[in-house]
Amino acid sequence: VPITPTQKIWMNGTFVDWDDATIHVLNPTLHYGWGVFEGIRAYATADGPAVFRLTDHIARLFRSAKIYLLDPGFTREEIVAAAKETVRINGVEACYIRPLIYLGYGEMGLNPLPSHVETMIAVWPWGLYLGADALARGCRAVTSSWTRIGHNTIPPAGKGTGQYVNSSLAKAAALKAGYDEAILLTPDGHVAEGSGENIFILRGRTLVTPPVHDGVLEGITRDSIMQIARDQGYDVVEATLVRTDLYLADESFVTGTAAEVVPVVEVDDRAVGSGRPGPITRELAEIFSAATVGDVARYKTWNEHVRD
Ligand SMILES: Cc1ncc(COP(=O)(O)O)c(C=O)c1O
Repeated sequence: VPITPTQKIWMNGTFVDWDDATIHVLNPTLHYGWGVFEGIRAYATADGPAVFRLTDHIARLFRSAKIYLLDPGFTREEIVAAAKETVRINGVEACYIRPLIYLGYGEMGLNPLPSHVETMIAVWPWGLYLGADALARGCRAVTSSWTRIGHNTIPPAGKGTGQYVNSSLAKAAALKAGYDEAILLTPDGHVAEGSGENIFILRGRTLVTPPVHDGVLEGITRDSIMQIARDQGYDVVEATLVRTDLYLADESFVTGTAAEVVPVVEVDDRAVGSGRPGPITRELAEIFSAATVGDVARYKTWNEHVRD
């Protein structure tokens, strides 16, 4: 997905011009993948741009940093304020926000500890990751032959840069085979998640999603959808799923900041339910979408406005 440049990028406490936000080719994070990041969206609301659950995203960024022994040198509150300032200074209404904590230039080798730590935040306008078509018609998913990273290999609870090699291997294989998205299984054969999204199924009025210990990122969209579903009177459970649970579900969908809510209408060449986006999926997706733009009173605390 091509990047549309904006004006300024926040780097270590100061704003630099977009084109000057560069790193050296011998930057260790580029070589060994030791860094952590977030993916966040700001939406245009009636009261100006509002970042969706920014504080929760930055809390997850700091959890990832803890796993990878990275001290960003800024407090959570400072990073929250810097993210808002980056949206403001670039004059964008709706955008994607990418904070990254990485190792600075100067050391090379597999020991990350001697390196100094750098932090940057960039924003740019970004359309829907799986496309508007995927939202309307649903996506076709395939179980990946690539196994989801495990708790004792590369911890899936973190959002580490290097761990996305796992997601990209699965995504590329799925696209080359003619599918829209990959679903990764744990080493035990439990359903984990999509390459960059959490997964849900519906059985009647019960919404089921794999628990965090089945190798999923604790998605903020996942949490929002669980809360919306409970508020709509559905039963919501976190339970281990296997691939045939996906085949036999009434409905299925994936969730993520980049993709938002996308119906899954086919898994491994089997139609899920009717083979079309399901009614409960649509209901939850519509409420989620309204919540992101500040149109749902009950979820207003999720809209963190960049202007006071
Ligand atoms: C592997 C993975 N799972 C799930 C998600 C969804 O998380 P969120 O809803 O917080 O964007 C993402 C996106 O960040 C992801 O990369």
